[in-house]
This record gives sequence, structure tokens and C-alpha cells, in this order.
Amino acid sequence: MSEQAPAKRLYIKTYGCQMNVYDSERMADVLAPFGYGVTDDPAGADLVVLNTCHIREKATEKVYSELGQIKRLKEARQAEGLGMTIAVAGCVAQAEGEEIMRRQPAVDLVVGPQAYHQLPELIARAHRARGERLAADFAPDEKFDVLSTDRRPSGVTAFLTVQEGCDKFCTFCVVPYTRGGEWSRPADAIEAEARALAEKGVREVTLLGQNVNAYDGEGGLAGLIRRLAKIPGLDRIRYTTSHPRDMDEALIAAHAEVPQLMPYLHLPVQAGSDRILRAMNRAHTAESYLRVIEKVRAARPDIAISGDFIVGFPGERDSDFEATLQLVREVRYASCFSFKYSRRPGTPAAAMPGQVPEEVKEERLHRLQALLEEQQAAFNAAQVGRTLPVLFEKPGRHPGQLVGRSPYLQSVHVTASDRLLGQIVPVKVESGARNSLSGALLGELETA
Ligand code: 5AD
Ligand code: SF4
Repeated sequence: MSEQAPAKRLYIKTYGCQMNVYDSERMADVLAPFGYGVTDDPAGADLVVLNTCHIREKATEKVYSELGQIKRLKEARQAEGLGMTIAVAGCVAQAEGEEIMRRQPAVDLVVGPQAYHQLPELIARAHRARGERLAADFAPDEKFDVLSTDRRPSGVTAFLTVQEGCDKFCTFCVVPYTRGGEWSRPADAIEAEARALAEKGVREVTLLGQNVNAYDGEGGLAGLIRRLAKIPGLDRIRYTTSHPRDMDEALIAAHAEVPQLMPYLHLPVQAGSDRILRAMNRAHTAESYLRVIEKVRAARPDIAISGDFIVGFPGERDSDFEATLQLVREVRYASCFSFKYSRRPGTPAAAMPGQVPEEVKEERLHRLQALLEEQQAAFNAAQVGRTLPVLFEKPGRHPGQLVGRSPYLQSVHVTASDRLLGQIVPVKVESGARNSLSGALLGELETA
């Protein structure tokens, strides 16, 4: 982001004391990674910030008369099809808050001196409130109309995008800035695409979204899954990736009631320490996450749980990291992704104190992954002796071998004829390694 030439123009007008002069410079710094370059011409600005002073009544009134002039510039830009975001910062913002927007509705956002680090987020939210999307060649619905017609699936499994974007603003993550707000595709369009895929031989779809369980088309994600489960030939449905906050009762119930919904849930938690989860702005605690897992397991006791973790988030102490290990022990994961915290310019966490040294991150990642790998191996070993339905997807590495997926998303290697490709067949699991299972067809199928 920071290497790009400024694509957007920022005009800041500063009133009052040296503190405000300093703050205005910091605001420009905070916005630079998002492509804002400073201009001294308010008429050409995409973003106008008035950094105000409240010391005397006269100073305050000056702000409102300035806002009246800026409003006219905004209207002139709008007449040309351009936008202008107006932000009021500084001490008037602190003192009068939202009252400013009531007095001057052209103002998009009000930000007090303690919240300047949140400016990119507040601006992104203001754009969304106006229904604006981030620069994109297509509006999302047009994009899908163009991209989803006449899909030629390459196998018996397919991805199907149902949702894009994110409104969560986790402090480490660039997605809300780069991919825009949460947006759901209409259910009719999704169903039509799923039907077309099933007619072309697809047996399993994975519904995709950055926050797929925030899907807010008719009936929510649970309703969508129930609808797709009625499509002939579509035997398996999966979805990824989910946020703990959006794991509602209806979706949990679908895991108990919809046989096509596979017993696998990717539910990132990121960390096990509430202090760190708060700093990450995750909107859940370790306890509330564990309660969700408990409910999901009550609905579908054999479900495979997967997750994402970040180690070395700013301020993470040994005791916080121990809390992460403790949470992992309680959940017993089937598989996981884990990352060292990576500083993303412009995100709030990048500017947080207490950045963790690389070697500490390295050591924590190593310990976390050792535990997760142990759990994955245990989950796989627990399948030995069971008979699982396997969807055969492709030939294996060795001649005469096929590779498929268990309901729990494990790869399963079996000696079997090519004729079974694309079929769901019972397989007796004989051994489990860390990353896959091996098994054999049941007697009568070996000659199929
Ligand atoms: N540093 C490390 N990991 C990150 N993720 C997102 N942003 C960062 C970052 N700045 C991880 C989270 C998320 C996954 C898709 O990527 O764990 O769930
Ligand atoms: Fe959104 Fe996920 Fe990024 Fe959080 S981690 S901001 S939920 S995309």
C-alpha cells in the first residue's frame, strides 16, 4: 500500500494550538498508507478534515461557517460525479460529538483527538454508510453476473462465492480496507450457479466468503444451505471462513439437521487471551468462543474443528501465549492454520506499542504448531477402524490409487478403479498419518 502514488487527495485545515498542528500531521501520516496525499486545495479534495479548536465560542462558530463553505465544494464535486468525505476532528469534535452532524448534515464523520488512529476505519465506515464501495472495476453483483455464467468446473468439487468483504476491523487485518464492506450475493443467483454446477457433475460445493456466516441474503447462511441441499446431485456442502460472532443458532441447527452439510467447521479464534482478543478487536472472548464450540459439538458431536491463530500480536506476553495453548487444549482441533503476527501498514495494530521480537514469535509459533500437529495426528488416528464415505476426486500418486475426501476434509488414499472417480463410496480407514488417511474399499466394491 505505502509504495503506491497518492491516489486520493486530503485537505486538512488546522485551527488553534500547536497540539492541533501536530495532530494534523499525524492524521496525514495515518492516512498515507491508504493512498491519501496532502493538497492545499479543498475544492479538489476527496477527504476534508477540519481539525478544530473549542477554546472560545468564536473559534467554534468559525468551524460551522467553514463547514458551510466546504459543503458547497462537496456539492460542486457531487455534481461532477465525484465524492468528498468531510471529517471534523479536534476539540469541537470532542465536545459536541454527533451534534455537529445534526447541525451540518454534510459532515460524514466526527473524530475526537483520542481516536485519530481509527481514522481509516471511520472513513471506510462512512463510505459504506453512503453505499459506496471501494474502487473496483465492477460492482460486486455485476462482477458475479459476468464471472459465474458458463462456469466449467474442473472436477467434482467446486467453490462458490456467496459473500465478500468484512466489517469487523480486526486491528491486525487489511481486509476491511482492501476488500470493502460485507456484501452478500442474492440467494437466487447462488442457487442458479449451484444447480448449473450440479448438472455438470459437481457433487460438493464450498460456499466462500471472508465472513461467510455473516451472509445476510434471505434466510441467512443456514437458509441458503437448506436451499442448496435440495439440489439433486449436490451431496456435500461446506462453507468457509466464519467469524465466531456470526455463528448463530440457525447455522448450528443446520449442522444437526442437514445431512449434506459436512461435519467440518473452520472458526478462527486468533488467540486465547482475552486481553489480546480485546486489542485485536475480535468482539469475542476465549470463553464465548469455547461456548460456541460446545454448542456446535452438541449439534454435531463428531464435527472436525479448524481455526486460525496469530502469535506475537503486539503486547502478547508469555502468559497470553499460554492462554492460547490452553484454549487449543480445550478445543482439540482437527486442523489449523497458524501465523506469526505481521505488521500491516495503516492497520491499528501496526502502531501499537509492544511489538514482539521476531525470535519470540518464532519460538511461540513453533510450540503452537507442535501442539496443533499432535492434535491433528490424534484426530486422524481416531478414524482408524471406522468406515467413512469418501468422495473420490482424482487419481493418486501411485498407479491404481485414488484420492478422495472424508466428511472431515481429510485426504483419503485408496486402491480403487478410476470408475469410482466422482462417486461417494464407503471406505474402511486402515491408517492415519498427520496429513492424510489410507483405507480400503469394502469387499463388494473392489470389483465394481
Ligand atoms: N498477521 C498475521 N496473520 C494475519 N492474518 C490476518 N492478518 C494477519 C496479520 N497481519 C491471519 C488471520 C486470519 C487469516 C486469514 O490470516 O489468522 O484469520
Ligand atoms: Fe475481517 Fe477476518 Fe480480517 Fe477480522 S481477520 S478483519 S474478521 S477478514
